[in-house]
Order: sequence, then structure tokens, then C-alpha cells
Amino acid sequence: MSNKMWGGRFASGPDAIMEEINASIDFDRHLYRQDIQASKAHAAMLAQQGIITADDASKISQGLDTILSEIESGKLEFRRALEDIHMNVESRLSELVGPAAGRLHTARSRNDQVATDFRLWMRASVDALDLALADYQKALAEKAFAHAGTVMPGFTHLQTAQPVTFGHHLLAYVEMAARDRGRFKDARLRANESPLGAAALAGTGFPIDREMTALALGFDRPMANSIDAVSDRDFVLEALAAASITAMHLSRFAEEIVIWTSPLAGLVKLSDKFTTGSSIMPQKRNPDAAELVRAKTGRIVGALTALLIVMKGLPLAYAKDMQEDKEGAMDAIHALSLCIAAMAGMVRDLEPDKARMRAAAGDGYSTATDLADWLVRELKLPFREAHHITGRIVASASEKNLLLHEMPLAAMQAIEPRITEAVRAGLSVDNSVKGRVSQGGTAPDNVRREAERWLKLLK
Ligand code: ARG
Repeated sequence: MSNKMWGGRFASGPDAIMEEINASIDFDRHLYRQDIQASKAHAAMLAQQGIITADDASKISQGLDTILSEIESGKLEFRRALEDIHMNVESRLSELVGPAAGRLHTARSRNDQVATDFRLWMRASVDALDLALADYQKALAEKAFAHAGTVMPGFTHLQTAQPVTFGHHLLAYVEMAARDRGRFKDARLRANESPLGAAALAGTGFPIDREMTALALGFDRPMANSIDAVSDRDFVLEALAAASITAMHLSRFAEEIVIWTSPLAGLVKLSDKFTTGSSIMPQKRNPDAAELVRAKTGRIVGALTALLIVMKGLPLAYAKDMQEDKEGAMDAIHALSLCIAAMAGMVRDLEPDKARMRAAAGDGYSTATDLADWLVRELKLPFREAHHITGRIVASASEKNLLLHEMPLAAMQAIEPRITEAVRAGLSVDNSVKGRVSQGGTAPDNVRREAERWLKLLK
């Protein structure tokens, strides 16, 4: 049997493998809500413009409502022979309301239909991601406030660099998430225009009202060019680019959780809620959730790369290649929302081991910069010279197996005679972080203020 939606000029049906490669219903079924919503808007507009009768429009609209509830209750069986969500819905509509169903596709094509549906879907997804990211930020800011004064080692090159506060470190991720949200917001702004009414590519001779359907669907305006409207998938790419950067940020944090919870570091503990055991080693507590966040970044970036490659060789306007935009994107958005929720959960769950953090913060001569700064401030030395003197003091301390603040005054004076006992106060990790009051710096007072600012913003 040839396809009853488009099979007029076909004598026979498709080969089995043709049907297999062509069908998109397995994934575009997720667009059913948007497809029905857009069809209802289209039918209402056709009636208002006198293109179909009010009676047909109301039959169509009621039929679409029935289909919505059939799909939602799992009663409608999708058929691969009908290719995609658009034809599955339309076919069911004709079973329900008869010939009126055949009028719904007036002045419309699946090309503008799918572009409309997917823009609506992406808009809803981006909105949901924004809420999830805000919750993640809130979890971070709350934890940061609670640990504004908790000292930890700050790293560069993953080598102990300078003491920082745990709250400060967490607030770094709040800032990243804010920019991630900004990227999604920006992507949403450009995505929120209506392709509906572009028809196949050239527009239509029917007196349609594109403003009306755009407004009904919550778009800011109709897209200006019908060829562009059916051909571009930059709205998917932008969302995937934003998703990739977000996932990269989450993955870095996940990697830190993996490092921090390793017994080698032992800086942070996750509870049973966010760890798993080993089937052979009874003592293990594995940070699987963090590892999976790190790993899922791969499929998210993969979806972006795949679609860029799908799109880069396509002449205008629509080509069936573009059907490949949905599966990866839907998978990526789903993966990202899992990752955000898991990270928010881990942030709420994790507890730093304050004693270990403090001890680690003092390792590796982490307050050497504070010593150099003291020499600059008190002895008016040029920083370069102070750096050199401090280096010699560190070497001497290391030889003696002492931490900086444990160095006898005489040993320091052997290198720089003008050093006084007053230097010692600045060499403790607590005083080190307390002193870093520059804007954006790690001082507990700064962190408390910043955490409060964020918590107020996120309310
Ligand atoms: N399932 C198709 C897609 O996702 C719908 C558009 C089909 N258009 C066409 N001219 N065959 O792209």
C-alpha cells in the first residue's frame, strides 16, 4: 500500500528498509504536545481567515484534544509506517473527525510544522534547564554561606597554591552557572520566532495570518524569511552549544568531587545517597554520580558536533538530513537535566572534612606569598626581591622539615635580618585567607557577602 498521506503518485509502498531509515516516530513522538498545540493554533487561524469553516475548525480542535489525551494515557499506538509524529496525529485525526481532518494541512507543510514544533520543544526545555540551574546555584550558595570561613587548599596545576575558603571555591561555580543561564537565555531569545506559515519553503497563496499563530504559540514574531524558517537549525545548535559549555562546567566540578572524595585527598565526604558500593570490595564508596556527570558531557558535546556536521553541507531549503536534529538533541537535553539535578543533589549532600582541609591548606608552603607580601609591606622591598628571599626561606624550612609558621625567627633572620616575630601571624592559613579582601577575593567576609547576594537574587 502506498502512503495515504503523500502516496498519490506512488504505485507501491516503500521497501522495508526505506520505511526503517525514514521513520522518526521513535523520537519525534516526544513532540506530540507541541505538534497538537501548533495544529490547534493553525486550525483556529485558518477559520478566522475564512480558509476553512468554523465548523471544520472546531471538529479539528476537538479531535486534537482527544488525541492529546489518548497519547497521554498511552492509548494511541504510533505507527512507523506513518513516519513521524505529524502524520501519526493527522492520520488519527482523520479516523476521529473524517474529511475535516484533511483540511488541517492547508497552507502548511511538515517543513514549517516540524520547525515550529521543535522550536516550541526547545523553548520549554531551555526554560526547564534554567529552573534546574537556578536550583543548583541555590544549593551552591547555601553551602558557600555555611562554609564561608572553611579553609581549604587552593590549587593551580593541581599543586597546592594558596589557602582559599571552601565557600569561595563553591561560589566560582555559581558564577559559571550564571553565565550558562545567560547563554540559554540568549539562545531562547533568537529561537523564539515562528516558522509557521512558511509552508514548504516559499510561503503560501492562502491569506494566512502568521502574526496570529505566532502570538497564540507565544513566539515573539513570525520569522521574516520563509526559506530561512524551514532550513535553519541554528536554534538547536545554540541550545546544544550552551548545553555543552554547561556540561563542561559541571564535569569539572564532578572531577573535583572525584578527586576530593578519593582517600588520597579525603577533603570531602558524600553520604550513602550519592555513593555506591563495590560488588567485591566491601570498603568501597564510589562517587558514581559525579563520574557519570563527567562522562555524560561526552554525549552532549557529541550531539552538538553531530548536528554541526549534519548541517554544514546542506543547500537551502529543507532536506531530510535535518530530521537527524532531534534524537541527539533530545538525548543531550535529557542528559544535561539529569546532570544538573545530580550536581545539585551532591552539593547539598557533600560535607567537607574541615580538619583535613585545614591541614592540607597549610601544606606545600601555601602561605609563601603571604610572607613575600609581608616583606613588601613592612620592609618596603620590591616584590621580586621579596619573592627571592621567601624562596630561600622556603628552601631552608623544607630542609629542616618545618612548615613556614614553625620556622624559628633566627632561621628566617639568617636570610633576611630585618624580619621580626610579627611576620608569623600572617603565615597561618586563617590569617592568610582573612587578609585577601580584594574585590572577588577569598576572605570569609567577602564570601559571606557574595553568598548572601546570590541567595537574595535566587529567591
Ligand atoms: N520528520 C520530518 C523531520 O523531522 C518532518 C519533516 C518532513 N518533511 C519532508 N519534506 N519530508 O524533519
